[in-house]
Amino acid sequence: MRVATTREELAAERKVLPGRVAVVMTMGALHDGHVALLRAARERADRVVVTIFVNPLQFGAGEDLERYPRSLEADLALCEREGADVVFTPSPQVVYPSPPQVRVSAGELGSVLEGAVRPGHFDGVLTVVLKLLSLTRPHVALFGEKDAQQLACIRRMVTDLDVPVDVVGVATVREPDGLALSSRNRYLSPSGRRSALALSRALCRARETGEPAQGRAVLAAEPDVLVDYLERVDNSTFRPDPHGDLLVVAARVDGTRLIDNLPLREGRP
Ligand code: PAJ
Repeated sequence: MRVATTREELAAERKVLPGRVAVVMTMGALHDGHVALLRAARERADRVVVTIFVNPLQFGAGEDLERYPRSLEADLALCEREGADVVFTPSPQVVYPSPPQVRVSAGELGSVLEGAVRPGHFDGVLTVVLKLLSLTRPHVALFGEKDAQQLACIRRMVTDLDVPVDVVGVATVREPDGLALSSRNRYLSPSGRRSALALSRALCRARETGEPAQGRAVLAAEPDVLVDYLERVDNSTFRPDPHGDLLVVAARVDGTRLIDNLPLREGRP
């Protein structure tokens, strides 16, 4: 496995990768959700590039950019174990030599739900995803369904801007008790970890009853869970839709913002 930190190193490594190339983009603090992406990437391509970059552009003022968990050594060991060929770990100066003037706008899709609570977040995500696609030039890029709105924004960017890459979504990986894996779960105290289970429970309840309000009632019964939203949405516009095919939830537990979602037609946390 080769590690590149500069654009020049990455370009040199990329040039000699034979066959079909997949990219898995991450912000590090890797867990089994990321592992699922890496394994799906190896199934779909001859070579796998992983990027590890905590992207300042997608964090708002007062969010957790400074304290976002960083564990580069363990991350590199995991990438090696999972058969990554190249890992790109640039500094912010390498990715943004000067503050970007031109950015990608996620449009309406980027302004609802997560985008309403985190203004500019999806613009920051799309801008770095497009840059990393340009730098790594993959045939296929894999993203988790855990971040459903992010995946929808990326699919829309690729369609609207004719970006030459296949986007593949990978199902959410959960703990045995249903909690969706997330790098931010490390912020939770033991009691917060228990309270956080209410998110997947609430989604299940909403799916069983077909009523988002029933899911919201599950969350309201948890004093340590502050709900931002639990809605049934159309999975391409993310607008509330009584016949929508996706349930989405966001809440704060122990001051940590957690998101989750559940398709209405298959899957089970
Ligand atoms: P990060 O949160 O590190 O997630 C990297 C990728 O792993 C994303 O595609 C995310 O959806 C996926 N992922 C995270 N948890 C998962 C889980 N439990 N099951 C399945 N997949 C999971 O998402 C980002 O980083 C950034 O926004 C990024 C796309 C790298 C741009 O900066």
